[in-house]
Amino acid sequence: MTAFTINGRRVDVKADGDTPLLWVIREHLKLTGTKFGCGIAQCGACTVHVNGEPTRSCSTPLKDVANKRVITIEGLSPKGDHPLQKAWIAEQVPQCGYCQSGQIMTAAALLAKNKKPSRDEIKAHMNGNICRCGTYNGIVRAIERAAKGA
Ligand code: FES
Ligand code: FES
Repeated sequence: MTAFTINGRRVDVKADGDTPLLWVIREHLKLTGTKFGCGIAQCGACTVHVNGEPTRSCSTPLKDVANKRVITIEGLSPKGDHPLQKAWIAEQVPQCGYCQSGQIMTAAALLAKNKKPSRDEIKAHMNGNICRCGTYNGIVRAIERAAKGA
């Protein structure tokens, strides 16, 4: 058993400690907003927050989150109205959508630490999150919008 909190809820998960956190989130806890992309920490689709840090859940073993706080896209804002989520809609960022929860979770970690990032800071922070649909410009616009509180 490994105990941790997910989206504010305490859970005890019965799985091998080496099970990737992404599998636990999707298969054990049935939170499917977090996506599997590459499985080797190269794309960012599986990004969640662990104790506030953006973390690639595909390559994080369950044992590493024992007694920690995990937040997924479902827990970013209980009503789905985080400033980034509103900005994402206003800027019509998603295309296929597959990478987008990971993009938003990565962006949320930036704004939690830097409320007014420059465009260069946004690009540098988001650099490791891949989007096959090429929504990069929309992502930057949405983060700037959210940072302005628009
Ligand atoms: S699925 Fe985790 S980084 Fe690609
Ligand atoms: S919106 Fe399709 S991969 Fe990013």
